[in-house]
Amino acid sequence: MQFFNKTAPIGIFDSGIGGLTVVKKILSMLPNEKIIYFGDTARVPYGSKSNSTVIEYANQDAKFLYKKNVKLIIVACNTVSSVALDNLREQFDIPIIGMIEPGAKYALSKTKNGKIGVIGTHSTINNQAYSKKLKQLNGDVEIFEKACPLFVPLAEEGWIDRKATKLIAEEYLEELIEREIDTLVLGCTHYPVLTEIIQKVMGPEVTLIDSGTAAALEVEDYLNGIGLRNDSSQIGKHQYYVSDLPSKFKIIAERFLGTTLDHIEKIDIDQIIKS
Ligand code: DGL
Repeated sequence: MQFFNKTAPIGIFDSGIGGLTVVKKILSMLPNEKIIYFGDTARVPYGSKSNSTVIEYANQDAKFLYKKNVKLIIVACNTVSSVALDNLREQFDIPIIGMIEPGAKYALSKTKNGKIGVIGTHSTINNQAYSKKLKQLNGDVEIFEKACPLFVPLAEEGWIDRKATKLIAEEYLEELIEREIDTLVLGCTHYPVLTEIIQKVMGPEVTLIDSGTAAALEVEDYLNGIGLRNDSSQIGKHQYYVSDLPSKFKIIAERFLGTTLDHIEKIDIDQIIKS
């Protein structure tokens, strides 16, 4: 068992930039926490890969963060949370928080007409991660799911206000609008990057659920509960790691987080696999 202290960093990982939507929430809610982020940009997307491949990648990502002596890992990826969370919890003796349960609870607290839409990667939707969790928490809700895989490369490219993105969103979301859902779970951490367009297409009366916000609230409760919330303001610099060239990640990440990233480094994922 690792020895934890309050000042140890929080590890966060995703297949690419999506997890930054969770980082942004954590930084605003828990400003005294130090973050170590890993985006597996060399192997994104995860959402169209098999469960066994995602489990393998997730173990390597978590291993990298674990070796940095983090006190907690946030799996800032719905795809990994859908298929690999139990496996990761078996492999690593530190707390691991995923996206699905917090996002499902948050959606249930917001819906009024009991009609909830869920969008995510092929993997998250095919594994019915949200619908199973939502049904388990409240058998009365109606759930309508839709895979929107093209949103991931659009977010990675930073195409947040393009006509093409709006057209794709209209095509994907049409059937959810017809179902008259009042709540839409953004069940992929890349999707909040496209919030503006998604909200425009869905209309102002539909509540968008950002699973990152829900997870950040859970992390806050969890750290308070076990007395591991950092109360020191001497946190040092956040660290960002990627598995491919950092230049594009840096541009999009800085624009999205609204700050410059001092420490961003490419790591050799093969080294982690071998170590
Ligand atoms: N951001 C991820 C998710 O929340 C994965 C996107 C992908 O790699 O396909 O599902």
